[in-house]
Amino acid sequence: MNITKEDMNSCSVHLSEDERSVIILDQTLLPNETKYLTLNTPEAVYDAIKSLAVRGAPAIGICAGYAMYVLAQQRDTRSFESFYGSLEKDGEYLISSRPTAVNLSWAVRRMLSKVQECKDIPVPEIINILGEESKAIHREDIEMCYRIADYGLSLVKPGDGILTHCNAGPLATSKYGTALGPMFLGKERGIDLHVFSDETRPLLQGARLTSYELYKGGIDVTLICDNMASMVMKNGWVQACFVGCDRIAANGDFANKIGTSGVAILAKHYGIPFYTLGPTSTVDFSCATGDDINIELRDEDEIRSMWYEKPMALSGVKCFNPAFDVTDHSLLTAIVTDKGIVYPPFDVNLRKTLLGQND
Ligand code: MRU
Repeated sequence: MNITKEDMNSCSVHLSEDERSVIILDQTLLPNETKYLTLNTPEAVYDAIKSLAVRGAPAIGICAGYAMYVLAQQRDTRSFESFYGSLEKDGEYLISSRPTAVNLSWAVRRMLSKVQECKDIPVPEIINILGEESKAIHREDIEMCYRIADYGLSLVKPGDGILTHCNAGPLATSKYGTALGPMFLGKERGIDLHVFSDETRPLLQGARLTSYELYKGGIDVTLICDNMASMVMKNGWVQACFVGCDRIAANGDFANKIGTSGVAILAKHYGIPFYTLGPTSTVDFSCATGDDINIELRDEDEIRSMWYEKPMALSGVKCFNPAFDVTDHSLLTAIVTDKGIVYPPFDVNLRKTLLGQND
């Protein structure tokens, strides 16, 4: 696949021309405002990830990779030890911004292990190598998204209705996206699909981001409230569900935006195939099952008042606001990865497909 600098610079996360900052499209302002933020301190990157200005597991990983390169250029280069020590501290700080999407820690650790691998060469040269590594993370994501989109498209036929939850499109990744990849690639190939986008309470990624990018891409999209999914399924309008993922455990359980497991249960009830689509970087073999995945809890005001002119609940009312839930692997038809479509038994086939390990 020929990936140009233009392809990379058109993504929601990219490197500035002088390579001293990470540029992100502020996703909190969409669909009403298109504004880019320039990040070049650990605090600015941390805040951008925490506030969801940059969000979506792969995009967070790309942002973290670039941030490590940008910060490396500001660190003390006189000794390897102090260089590595300060970068490791930056990395741990960035990882603490959001716990669930594994791509964040995966990218930080990949950058740190590159530094370790190069410990016998002068630090200024290591910094150049980190620049290449961060671009490789981004380039690989574009390639992985293309392959995921291609595999995903093979699972549907022209005219099918696809239901999706949250946003796993180009904004959350790089070109194509994961769960929305088949729709964008289908459009390029003249295969039209109809998409039902759950609005995705409480942060409305489906309304603000998914319907926005599909509509702008000329893809037939209908926005629904989360509690309408059952009805559109019952009406026979949905032939498959495609959702993203933030972390896939070794047995196929996976974390994704809160509400995903409910969609999976509905899909099972109506006999509709349910797929999660994600890159290799989202699989975490160190989590045996979904019980090992740390679920982020967010500010209660996201439920009470964030999207309303006036609060819709009294300030003293208790709220429970988990950002993600875990979908049990028994509800999954298959996991669509960049290395192929993985069917049950997932504990065996994930390792076989992704690591080339046989039992
Ligand atoms: O809290 P968010 O908006 O970062 O949650 C994002 C999701 O749940 C996505 O589905 C997931 O990160 C996959 S993005 C390709």
